[in-house]
Parts: sequence; C-alpha cells; structure tokens
Amino acid sequence: MDYQTQEHDVIVIGAGGAGLRAAIEASAVGVSVGLVCKSLLGKAHTVMAEGGIAAALANVDERDNWKVHFADTMRGGQYVNNWRMAQLHAQEAPARVRELEAWGAVFDRTPDGRILQRNFGGHKYPRLAHVGDRTGLELIRTLQDHGVHRGISVYMERTVVRLLKDGDRVAGALAYDRERGRFTVFRAKAVVLATGGIGKAYKITSNSWEYTGDGHTLAYDAGAELIDMEFVQFHPTGMVWPPSVRGILVTEGVRGEGGVLRNSTGARFMFGDIPDNYKPQTAKDEEEGFRYVLGDKNANRPPELLTRDHVARCIVREVKEGRGSAHGGVLLELQTFAKWFGARERGFDAAAHWKKKLPSMYHQFKELGGLDITKEPMEVGPTTHYMMGGVRVDSDTQMSRVPGLFACGECAAGINGANRLGGNSLSDLLVLGKRAGEHAAKFACDPPRMGTIHADQVEAAAQWALEAFDRTGDENPFKVQQDLQDMMQDLVGIVRREDEMLRALDGLAQLRQRAAKCRVTGNREYNPGWHTAMDLHNLLTVSEGITRAALVRRESRGAQFRDDYPRKDSATFGRVNTITWRAADGTMQVRLEPIAPMPQELKDAIAAEAGGQLPEELK
Ligand code: FUM
Repeated sequence: MDYQTQEHDVIVIGAGGAGLRAAIEASAVGVSVGLVCKSLLGKAHTVMAEGGIAAALANVDERDNWKVHFADTMRGGQYVNNWRMAQLHAQEAPARVRELEAWGAVFDRTPDGRILQRNFGGHKYPRLAHVGDRTGLELIRTLQDHGVHRGISVYMERTVVRLLKDGDRVAGALAYDRERGRFTVFRAKAVVLATGGIGKAYKITSNSWEYTGDGHTLAYDAGAELIDMEFVQFHPTGMVWPPSVRGILVTEGVRGEGGVLRNSTGARFMFGDIPDNYKPQTAKDEEEGFRYVLGDKNANRPPELLTRDHVARCIVREVKEGRGSAHGGVLLELQTFAKWFGARERGFDAAAHWKKKLPSMYHQFKELGGLDITKEPMEVGPTTHYMMGGVRVDSDTQMSRVPGLFACGECAAGINGANRLGGNSLSDLLVLGKRAGEHAAKFACDPPRMGTIHADQVEAAAQWALEAFDRTGDENPFKVQQDLQDMMQDLVGIVRREDEMLRALDGLAQLRQRAAKCRVTGNREYNPGWHTAMDLHNLLTVSEGITRAALVRRESRGAQFRDDYPRKDSATFGRVNTITWRAADGTMQVRLEPIAPMPQELKDAIAAEAGGQLPEELK
C-alpha cells in the first residue's frame, strides 16, 4: 500500500478550538506538532458556540467567583460530572479568557472598558464573555492566528481512519486526504484527539458534515473507554423553517438578551414549569425577568434561562400537546422586551439594538428565512447540538487509558455530566485543551518515546478503508446514513423508552449489515460517497454507544429523559457514570462505575449555592 509518512512529537487530530489550543500549548513546550483537520482550518463546530465563553471574571456582577461557576456547572450536570474537571475548569477559565484577549481576541466591553459578560441558561450571574453572537468565530480566529505563528504544521482535509499502536501505547494514525484519496501515516509519540461531536448521527442537528463521532470511535477501537454516552444535548433553539435550514443554531444569547418563548396561544409556557430548586416565578414576574436581563441583581431570572435540557423538553411538550407554531416549533421573540425597554428608555431604537447585540441571528433569519427578527418572532425547536459523553480521560492530564492517547473538547467527557451549560464548551476547550497539549508534550519527551509503526496494521487499516470499492453489494452509503439519522431521531432522541431503544439496537445491527454492503463507484479522488461509507463505521459505533448507555441508565437525568423512568433515581444513578468499552470478542459493553467521593471544600461550595443543603447525590 502506498502512503507518505509524516513524523511529529505530537499530533493533534481535529482543529477546532480544543485542537488548536492543545496544539499551541504543545508547541509552546518546544516539541514538533502536526495538526490534522478533517475540513479546512478554521471550519469547526466551535463557531456554533455563538453566545459566549463562560468564565467567572466578575466584570458585570462582582459576586461571581469560581466556586459559584463550579456549583452551577455541577447543578447543570446534575452531579454526575467529574468534579475535579469541573473544578479545574471553573478555576482556570478566567485566566484562559484573559490570555485569549492578550492574543488579540476582541470582546464586547462594559462601559468602563472591561470584557462584557451576558446571561445564559443555568449560570447564576452574567458570565459569558462575548463578541455579539460570534464568540466561537472570534475564538477560532484568534487561536488560528496565534497557532500558525508558532510553526505548527497543518494538514488540511485529512480524515483519520485508524489509530496505530505499538503494543499498548499509541504510535500514530492513518489518514486519507479528501482531495486525492491518498494515505498518510502520522507517526507520533503522543496523539491528541479533538474531533468534536456526533451530531450527524441525528436528523436534526446544528452540526455540519464533519461531526460523525470520529474521535469517540478511534479511541474506542484503540481500547479506550467512553463515559456517559447517553447524554446527548438537544439545544432548545434551532431554526425550524424553511426545511432546508432546519437545525441551524439560534443562539441562547437571544434569550440571554431578553428573548422570550411563547406557544401558539401566546402563553409564556416556561412559567408553568419551574423546578423546585429555582425561585418560584409567575407570569407576573415578566417585567422582573427583563430587569434581571438588564442587570437588576435582585430580580428573578426569566424562566427561558433555565438549563437547556429543561427548556428543550418543555418545547417538545408544547408541540406534542398541540400548542406548537405553524411548522412544529414554538415562537422566540424579542418584541416583548423591546416594548418594555422602549417604554422605559426614551428614543430606544429596537432594530439597532438587536442588530448590534445579535448581528449573526439578524442576518441568518433575514438571509435564510426571509424574516426580520427585530419585527417578527422566530420559529424554533430543539436541535442536536453537543455530546456530553465521550472519551474517558484523566481529569488533570486528559490522557485516556491508552498510553499516549489524549482527548479534549467535545470528544472527551466528564466535565459536563448529564447536561452542559451554554458557554462552558468554549471555556472547557481552552482550559482542558491547554492541559491536553501540555501533558501530551510531556508524555512525548520525558523520556522521549517514539513507538514503532507496524506495517501490518497500516496495511489492514488501508485495506479496510478501500473495501467499499471492491464490494458487490448495492447499498448506497448516503441512504444508510439517512436511515440511521431518522432512526436515532425517532427512537433515541429527546424522549426515550426501553422498547424503542431495543428496536433501535435491532435497527443498528441491520444498518451495520447494510453498511457492509455499501459499494462506491468512481475513483479515490474527491469521492464523498467513499468518505460517507467510511464515516458510517463511526456513526454506527457512537449510535450504539448512546443507545446501550441510555438503556442502562434507568432514570431521567439532564439530557436523558426516559418516559418509562420519568424520575431521577439519585440514590442509585446519581452516584454513577456509565462506562462503555469494547470487549475482547468485539462486542460493546456498558457498566456502571461509582463516582469518586467529592472533597469537603467542593461540597461546601455546592451547599452554599443550594441554601445550605447538599443535593441527594452528594449526601
Ligand atoms: O447558544 C449558543 O450560543 C451556544 C453556545 C454553546 O453551545 O456553548
């Protein structure tokens, strides 16, 4: 088999925010770094974290600090988070944001010139440092500029199909390039996975074509464990109309800036469903919610800013019970806030205000939906956005159980537990991406340890990749992918039931058989059918992981809602993670594993935010 070889101390697979931050850190240590991207550099799902980066800078509310951020993250994740990661994240996020600013990121400003922070769901204080609604884009731009000046070698449009091992440890990876279909072996002392999410396993998603669970599957196939695969985040607000743009993200920043949700009767349905652990609120609080958005520290938070899992489920309920909008969503509108604000501030120009605060949303709806959001409500509904489950890694170093294999960003897991708070992904990728890069570089050089690339592994992986050209079957890879997406959406979506998930497992077995019959025609040069045929292995693996873990967790918690187990079972499932791994016979297995006891200092931080009471899970 023909292939080129590239050698680096560290290779980073994935060039979104986490991969870039890891690559920058590894190169800062002085090792040679190769950055392998499936797409073009800068095109990453990171840009879909539009509303901001969560960090307790306390620029807008001086009561904020890392302990409150930690407690919010744990409550949002319903206490099955890796508490050590959540601690490191909350403690280190402010420094990572300031560092980003020093590297040239341009943030919106407070009147006295500090980084402006906005409200977001589940965050007690305004905490999201932002640039309008283009924060992820600014983050990527800054990291990219900084990274290319460090001399990192970038390999674009290369998809990694297999990790190569030398005994137990990782020794490199085999990739093909999309343009010519040629193979490259990346030889490395350490490998960092930063491939993002799995959104393309579902029909409605904010993710683009790259997000097929590659890092999850590469790690799993190489012997790493996956954790909490049942927790898939459905962001409450994606576009629902027109059909061609269904799923595209409508930032939570819209609600953070005063947008409210209404059903077809005009009711603010979120007022009807406030969980016990939040202050009671009624529709009379409407004005109070706006005062909160404008910074009144004593006002109640509007219910639209409850956590994503909760808001998404309320929207599904409204639609299911016949109170949805014309195209099967609900209405998100800025007009109530504008009316209220306009009555208070003479000369308030609502259109100019929203165009400044939410420029991308304004353009997105104008260009894609022919709608002026400063005048009319948006139609929105849940969209698959983020994967809380992923590669199980050490909390301090980000190394998986495969020596030399690290993971960070969305493809790694632990920090978010059962549900991620908006804005925590950008800070997670900065904090834990940096840690992954630093420890991968240390692993690579101290002592130096280049593994051997075994030709038989390369040959087998390349043969596997090319198989679809020689098959005689007549399955079409795009059709198999579409059927998988439809099935996952229907049977393992926002609301789940055992009988449906068992059907999904049967369906997955059938889809695997069909995937094995996919035949591609043409040659290896830019051949999307071939690429999709290979992606199917990853999509099927993560879909099976989600389904099996969701079956094992017999309760409703965070992003997992089980119709057949609608309550939380904190005594049992509030104290465990699901661990997914590949057994020696190749079958996927799931076990429950107890969460390590939390130190008293962190318990105190949580109790302080919960009226002195510890949640059941931590007692
Ligand atoms: O709604 C948003 O802007 C998304 C942010 C996030 O997922 O962190």
